[in-house]
Amino acid sequence: MNTVPTQEAGMNTLPTQEAGMNTVPTIHVADPVIQVRNLGKVYGSFTRDSILQTGPEFGTARDPRTGSIIAAWNVNFDVAAGEALGIVGESGSGKSTVLRCIAGDQPATTGDVRLACHDNGEFNILHLDPATRRRLRIDKLSVVYQDAAEGLALGVTAGGNIADPLTAAGWRHFGRIRERAADLLRRTEVPLDRMDDIVRTFSGGMRQRVQIARALANNPPILLLDEPTTGLDASVAAGVLDLIRRLLEELDLAVVVVSHDFAVIEMLTQRCIVMQHGRVVEDALTDQLLEDPQHPYSQKLVAAARA
Ligand SMILES: Nc1ncnc2c1ncn2[C@@H]1O[C@H](COP(=O)(O)OP(=O)(O)OP(=O)(O)O)[C@@H](O)[C@H]1O
Ligand SMILES: [Mg+2]
Repeated sequence: MNTVPTQEAGMNTLPTQEAGMNTVPTIHVADPVIQVRNLGKVYGSFTRDSILQTGPEFGTARDPRTGSIIAAWNVNFDVAAGEALGIVGESGSGKSTVLRCIAGDQPATTGDVRLACHDNGEFNILHLDPATRRRLRIDKLSVVYQDAAEGLALGVTAGGNIADPLTAAGWRHFGRIRERAADLLRRTEVPLDRMDDIVRTFSGGMRQRVQIARALANNPPILLLDEPTTGLDASVAAGVLDLIRRLLEELDLAVVVVSHDFAVIEMLTQRCIVMQHGRVVEDALTDQLLEDPQHPYSQKLVAAARA
């Protein structure tokens, strides 16, 4: 992973919540495991006007003068243990960008992200050096991607994929690693006789199960899911979703679920933020959002999901 988190010079002079931008109130939680403040990501160079003249009011995240994409700006949320927050919105609204900036897959342009499991949240992880950032991925923060090729080595066996984070965390005993891998495959309902098969030979649903097994290998307190069932056949997706739901009930994880699908958000999350053109337009309890969406864009999304 090529991770170089940066906070660019002069960012403090750029518009944020304090500058009176159109922002939605953030729901604060007690003892957050993840705390995200003013997270921003711009693809390309930009100016203050790029920020001020993009977003929902302008119907675009693209600055017409520079061509830059303000993929996410002024994103704020907290997630507590045992809680799942959804990020919902149309394609290109910035959902994956937010998740990838938190995970360290992409350098954020600006913002402050704190994890209770890293030095008690004393430091902004966006400022960590790349090696320390990568280490968080071993046992603190795991990601399950829509595309299994991003989360797994497809040419390696299921057992080998799970052994990887275990050895990175210091596991050395071959028998114990096998035992742990078998236990995780059992929990994710992957037949044990497939443990030594290479993942490329697995079906889409089975690959997602192996990704989940690998993500949980070192019991991380934080799990980020990016469209974990998108692209799977409906019946396969339902099985994987059900597995995720049961695992979230059992484990005391702080979870972020990115999805364009309200059925997924409804099934897995308690709260969610709605993104449009790189901005958060609503932050609500999932039940409330589905029953009584406040922002016109949320209303449109919910109505479309019901249709
Ligand atoms: N590496 C990149 N370089 C330039 N622009 C990018 C890059 N990655 C994403 N973008 C742009 O940033 C915006 C947000 O993309 P993002 O992938 O976060 O959207 P999304 O909400 O996850 O969409 P989807 O539902 O299609 O996955 C889009 O306009 C996208 O084209
Ligand atoms: Mg995405």
